[in-house]
Amino acid sequence: MQILRNLTEDLAPAAPLDPSSIAFGKTFSPHFFVADYRNGEWAGARIAPLESFSLHPGALVLHYAQEVFEGMKAFRQPDGGVALFRPEMNARRFQASARRMAMPTVEEGLFLNAVLGLADADHAWVMEYPGSLYIRPAMIATQPYIGVSSSNEYKFFVVTLPAGKYFANHDPGPGAVDVLVAESMVRAWPGGTGNVKTAANYAMTLQITAKAIAAGLSQVLFLDASPERRVEELGGMNVMFVEDGGLVTPPLGGTILPGITRDSVITLAKDEGIAVREYAYSLVELIARVKSGQITEAMACGTAAVVTGIRTLCFENGLRLPVGNARGRGEISNRLFEQLQGIQYGRQPDKFGWLRRAASAQS
Ligand code: PLP
Ligand code: COI
Repeated sequence: MQILRNLTEDLAPAAPLDPSSIAFGKTFSPHFFVADYRNGEWAGARIAPLESFSLHPGALVLHYAQEVFEGMKAFRQPDGGVALFRPEMNARRFQASARRMAMPTVEEGLFLNAVLGLADADHAWVMEYPGSLYIRPAMIATQPYIGVSSSNEYKFFVVTLPAGKYFANHDPGPGAVDVLVAESMVRAWPGGTGNVKTAANYAMTLQITAKAIAAGLSQVLFLDASPERRVEELGGMNVMFVEDGGLVTPPLGGTILPGITRDSVITLAKDEGIAVREYAYSLVELIARVKSGQITEAMACGTAAVVTGIRTLCFENGLRLPVGNARGRGEISNRLFEQLQGIQYGRQPDKFGWLRRAASAQS
């Protein structure tokens, strides 16, 4: 499908962007992509100046949360160009999320043209290392209807944001955060929607996340609903541990998000000769292995967080359990972080073919 381009003349930020002073999620670049689904097909695809759109108060998304989204990044390359990291994976996960939420899918080619075209249009907003451009595709149900049913009209849109460090405001040490272990709540269950990216999965985490933030913590670690309370993932990242020098991460059993960072870190670890085991610790096992020093590192992996160390596991009763040396990102976490960022910023060969250039983007 042809994407119309209607760009503003003033394409670059008025002053150079500084990754250390741009809080995640608040500054938008000047263009967005939008397309509408009606009568069984996508139409009207365009990249245009960012503007608000109006919604009927009866739009299905506002009542029954029929929404899916993605999170991905574009990185400034050494030659001044811009590259997206594994965008096909986001395109496919967006399709899987849409199917689960009874929504139409966006064909991979349209998704890729939308995100690559937008990163190209707003390439002046892709900050240099350690900054990047965060890309947020989303789809909402727009049909005005108060019956509980799937919409027959949708809007697919993409906004982008220059992004510094996700945890810039909370980070208590060099690349590590403290997390709250959620014993009183679950975010997913077998047969639910934990393995797709839909708004409601996040709305339900806000209450306990607010508690965590109020206690000076940065994220929440969720456990499954089984009597063993097995470790699943964080509110917005997958979780990994280092035990006896090997990487351990919960398997993709249908209740956690198949993270693209997770997949990339696993690939990098195997390539480095680090053993990888997919296993979900029970809460009792996790506490015992952290206390005994078998687990030496924990990390949060995601597009926004990249690889951030977990310094302390905190419990709802106030107890705090330091992980490993409890300072910053551990040695193996840091190695994987450096490898990943090296590829993303084009400092190391793209040996797995993960980068896609936003065609004509130049600094
Ligand atoms: N888990 C959840 C719940 C997330 O929201 C995210 C972020 O998108 C991730 C894991 C990590 O996924 P990815 O690495 O694809 O960003
Ligand atoms: C991401 O890492 O892209 C996320 O979506 C996590 C969070 C910002 C919701």
